[in-house]
Amino acid sequence: MTPSQVLAEWGPAAGLAAGPAVLPAKSTHGDRLDLKSRFRVNPFLMAPMAGVSDAAYRTMARAGGAGLAYTEMVSCAGLHYGGEKTWELVEPAETEPDIAVQLFGSKPELFREAAASVCERLGDRLALIDINMACPVPKVTKKGEGSALLDSPELAASLVRSCIEGVDGRVPVTVKIRRGRRMGEEVAPDFARAMEAAGASAIAVHGRFANQLYHGEADWGCVGRVAKAVGVPVIGSGDVSSAQAAVRMLAETGASAVMVARGSYGNPWVFRDAMALRLGERPAIHGPREKIAAFRCHVRLLAATGANLKRARSLAGWYLRGMPEAARLRGMAVTCLTLEDYLAVADEAERMLLDVQ
Ligand SMILES: Cc1cc2nc3c(=O)[nH]c(=O)nc-3n(C[C@H](O)[C@H](O)[C@H](O)COP(=O)(O)O)c2cc1C
Repeated sequence: MTPSQVLAEWGPAAGLAAGPAVLPAKSTHGDRLDLKSRFRVNPFLMAPMAGVSDAAYRTMARAGGAGLAYTEMVSCAGLHYGGEKTWELVEPAETEPDIAVQLFGSKPELFREAAASVCERLGDRLALIDINMACPVPKVTKKGEGSALLDSPELAASLVRSCIEGVDGRVPVTVKIRRGRRMGEEVAPDFARAMEAAGASAIAVHGRFANQLYHGEADWGCVGRVAKAVGVPVIGSGDVSSAQAAVRMLAETGASAVMVARGSYGNPWVFRDAMALRLGERPAIHGPREKIAAFRCHVRLLAATGANLKRARSLAGWYLRGMPEAARLRGMAVTCLTLEDYLAVADEAERMLLDVQ
C-alpha cells in the first residue's frame, strides 16, 4: 500500500484527514505565503525530533492538523559525504504537502551546498530550511555544532548567510535556538537579533538552557523576550504538552507560532484541537478506540514509507498508554518484528477494551 492509500483507508477511523493536508503554504493565487501569513492561517507546528519525526510521524501530524512538520536534524556533512541514507531523512512522503528541513553543522560551505541541494531536490515541497542551534548533545556540541553555536554568534550568522545564498530566494531560512548554553546565562534575545540581522526569516526558541537538556520547566518568558527583541516571527517551544498549552503559549508570549514536540506523542490530533480551541470551539475527546485506530494507521504508514518497524515499539507505548493491560501490550510490542505483529498488538488492545466493558 502507498502512504496515500493508508491514509485514505485508515485515517478516518482514527479521526484523521483522509488525504494529504491542504497546502496552507499558497495564497489563492498560488503564490507561496510568507511565514507570517502562513502562521496566521495555522500556527501549530510539529517540532523536529531526532529518531521520531520521520515521514510517517510527520504525515500523522499533518493529517492531525499541523500547519507544518519538521524533519529531524540532518547533518550537512552527512548530506555531502554520506549519500542516500542521509538523503532519505529529507525525502517527504507523497502524503506530505511540504516539509521543513532542519540542518546542523558548523561549516558555511557545507551549509551553502546542503541548502542548495535540498532546494533542488524538494522543489515546491520544501517550506523552509531551519538551522539547528539548539541541540545539547555532547557528540554534536563538541564539534561546535547545535547549541555550541550560541557561544559563536558570528559563525552562526555566517551559517545563516551561507544558507540564504544556497537557497537563493527560493525558501525562507530560519534558526532554532535555546535560551542559552549554561543555566542562568540567557543569550536568546541578543542572539536572535543577530540572526535576524544576518537574514533569518523566523526564530524558533526552546525556553530551556542547553545544559538543562530536556529537564526542568521551560521558561516561556524567554520566548516572550525573544518575540519583543525581533521583528521576524518567533516560534515558541518547550512544555507544549497539550492543545491547551499550545494556545496558552501563543497568548502569553506574543509568539507567532508554537512547536509541539513530546506533546504530540500518541496525540496526532493535538494540532487540530489547538486550532479548535483558538477559535473558541471545544476540542474533540479522543477515546481508546480512536487511539488504537491511530496506532494502526501510524504503523501502516511506517511500513508504507519503508521505515524500520522498530520505531513502532515506542509508538505502542505512546498510543496505548493508560489502556487496560497497557504494560503487557508494551511488552508484546517490544518483541514485534513485522507489520502483522504490531497489528496483532492493536487487536489485543481492542480485546482488552471489550473485556472491561
Ligand atoms: C526525542 C527528541 C528529539 C529531538 N530532536 C530535535 C532535533 O533534531 N532538532 C531540534 O531542533 N530539536 C529537537 N528536539 C527538541 C524539540 O524540538 C523541542 O524543542 C523540545 O523537546 C522542547 O519541547 P517539549 O518540552 O514540548 O518537548 C528533540 C526533542 C526530543 C524529545
